[in-house]
Amino acid sequence: MKMEKLFNEDVMALDTYIMVRLKERTAQLKDKLTQKNRAPISLSMGAPTSAPPSALIDKLKEFLTEDNIHSYSVTRGESYFREACVQRMKDRFGVVLDSNDEVCSVLGSKDGLANLIRFLIYPQHEEFQKDIILIPDPGYASYSQMVGCSGGKAYPMALTPENNYQPDMEQVWEQLKNDGYDENKVKAVIINYPNNPLGVMATKDYVQKVVDFCKKHDILLISDAAYCDLYFDEAHKPFSVFELKGAKDIAVEMFTLSKPYAVTGWRLGWICGNKEVVSRFAKGKSTIDNGMFKALQKACAYIMTSAEGDEYIAQGNISYKRKQSILVKGLKELGWEIDENNIPKTTFYLWLPIPRKYDSCVKFCQDMLEKSGIVVVPGTAFGTYGEGCFRISYVCSDEKLQEVVDRMKADGFRY
Ligand SMILES: Cc1ncc(COP(=O)(O)O)c(C=O)c1O
Repeated sequence: MKMEKLFNEDVMALDTYIMVRLKERTAQLKDKLTQKNRAPISLSMGAPTSAPPSALIDKLKEFLTEDNIHSYSVTRGESYFREACVQRMKDRFGVVLDSNDEVCSVLGSKDGLANLIRFLIYPQHEEFQKDIILIPDPGYASYSQMVGCSGGKAYPMALTPENNYQPDMEQVWEQLKNDGYDENKVKAVIINYPNNPLGVMATKDYVQKVVDFCKKHDILLISDAAYCDLYFDEAHKPFSVFELKGAKDIAVEMFTLSKPYAVTGWRLGWICGNKEVVSRFAKGKSTIDNGMFKALQKACAYIMTSAEGDEYIAQGNISYKRKQSILVKGLKELGWEIDENNIPKTTFYLWLPIPRKYDSCVKFCQDMLEKSGIVVVPGTAFGTYGEGCFRISYVCSDEKLQEVVDRMKADGFRY
């Protein structure tokens, strides 16, 4: 207890990351659940379980024996990695970037976002004195934790069916002022399309409005594009913020290798865009790390710019669509009213209302785990607007997904 007092209040207020807590709870119950034929099936983490592209593994093996490959890299990332990022941005989005000062590697986008956020925020104690970052709600659970433990205020922008999951920035601004916050304290806006947990995409018109809004107020736009390669048809192909007018003046975008190539453990991604922000970010980051293992950077540079990499992503998306259909069919049989038009066209998440007999999403998820061994995430883990809903991540095998449906039927989990 004495030693804990050394930590600052914002860190003391943090709980362990939700996915870690779910993993720990599942491990505690594993034996009991297995004994009653309900061995845990995880639909919680957004971590693909398929094998990474074989070409990626082959390249990694090849590079492991190169001269000088095991020594420190550099914070910004090796030039071959940054050049591959530039090539990828050009091929995938038609966006032109300079590998010297508009791209920097990150040790996964979680690390990149956490560092960027703490570099922006000047920590304050008093609620209304705090620097503010606007975050999507529901949104990736880490945003609010990262802002909070950096001594800032994460102000939620509600993503609702009524606003088509695209909150009006002027309305958010008015609400923030009405709540007593100082608009001059707003440092940045985080957007995340395709969105975790909702699986929704935004229109270019909407994101252009967000760009214009940030320019008008001189605030940084942080676009988290973690799911930009996970989509099911060309009509809903996600775009980069840099396809929009004026974005480079005020925006950075965060990309990750984790999801498209099923390498969540490799911890590699990149931040790109506004050169002042990228350069300052790289300076700050140079005090923290020396970049990622060079063999990983080199193998990833290969896959990001190869036909094998694109084919792997395309096949992965076909398989996610199939997995989504298994779940949607099963959940409809269990009474969930799923409108064909509202089925996500991006990501590997389903966001659904909890059964009518429940009034708490935490209780529902607890029952799913304790009775059926099915691990899903309560909506409130993604923000206050998540109450009444839960998230399914369909990254496991088709057979396991079918088993989830069968267990729910057998154990009485109907909508
Ligand atoms: C929206 C979003 N951003 C960022 C991340 C972090 O991904 P990584 O750190 O593996 O790049 C995740 C992971 O689930 C995510 O859902």
